[in-house]
Amino acid sequence: LKPKITVVGSINMDIVTITDQLPKMGETLIGNQFKMNPGGKGANQAVAAARLGADVRMIGCVGNDSFGPLLKQNLQNEGINVTDVEPVTDSTGTATIVVYDGDNSIIIVPGANQHVTAAFVESKRDVIADSDVLILQLEIPLEAVQKAAEIAKEHGVKVILNPAPIRKLPRELIEKINYLTPNEHEYTLLQQGLDEKELKEKVILTKGSAGVAFYQGEKEVSIPAYPVKVVDTTGAGDSFNGGFAVALSKGHSVSEACRYGNAVAALSTTKLGAQTGMPTNEEAEAFIKGMEG
Ligand code: RIB
Ligand code: NA
Repeated sequence: LKPKITVVGSINMDIVTITDQLPKMGETLIGNQFKMNPGGKGANQAVAAARLGADVRMIGCVGNDSFGPLLKQNLQNEGINVTDVEPVTDSTGTATIVVYDGDNSIIIVPGANQHVTAAFVESKRDVIADSDVLILQLEIPLEAVQKAAEIAKEHGVKVILNPAPIRKLPRELIEKINYLTPNEHEYTLLQQGLDEKELKEKVILTKGSAGVAFYQGEKEVSIPAYPVKVVDTTGAGDSFNGGFAVALSKGHSVSEACRYGNAVAALSTTKLGAQTGMPTNEEAEAFIKGMEG
């Protein structure tokens, strides 16, 4: 039986410019390459989980511009249930991304993602209640994230919150989350709102090429990243979250889920675009086998 994963989150068009040089304010430069790729942390995590074989349902909003239908179709092509991806009167979310030296900087305009409200999420209560794992991020209004976590908690659904982009989180939200998956930057801010018990029970710290760290009781465990030739790190965190969620929902341990998430993330960075390099379960397993000899 396939694990049922619901993602409540953002759907963006990534508008990507690849360049060797960054312009100063007021300067115009010639870049190398331009691409438009489906993105958004919510959609990326949904695609990661779907490619890995989960039964994925996405809850979110797209705009009434040309990007909206394209992005919904893209999710559907990945085998994701898009019944709850609704069009609204606004622009579709965009992320303007500059890829420079394998790294990136991003400006997001939420647009339609702002229409994912608590009331909208409440209207999807049955979908959330019916899942094994719920995945959340912070590119939709916080009230919607809180509502989704609340519904999940009421129905015994495990919740993973990828706290990105980071902001101060209310106590009532943190209490409803099973796993928080910050990167190092997000962790420094998140840490202030957590007590030691929560930190040890909930935090899965992702450190890019330095791997992942978490507590097993009082012991700090570290799961190394897999070395690959990095082309684009956009969506690597989302790939980790998708992989982590799928492994957990299959009943694997946190360390196994981290190892699997690391493999999914590593493979995702070998191709340009957030979703392009995301592997299937077969590819991820073959990769882990190859790496571990
Ligand atoms: O995590 C990567 C994603 O962040 C990109 O796809 C972009 O849309 C931004 O939301
Ligand atoms: Na990629």
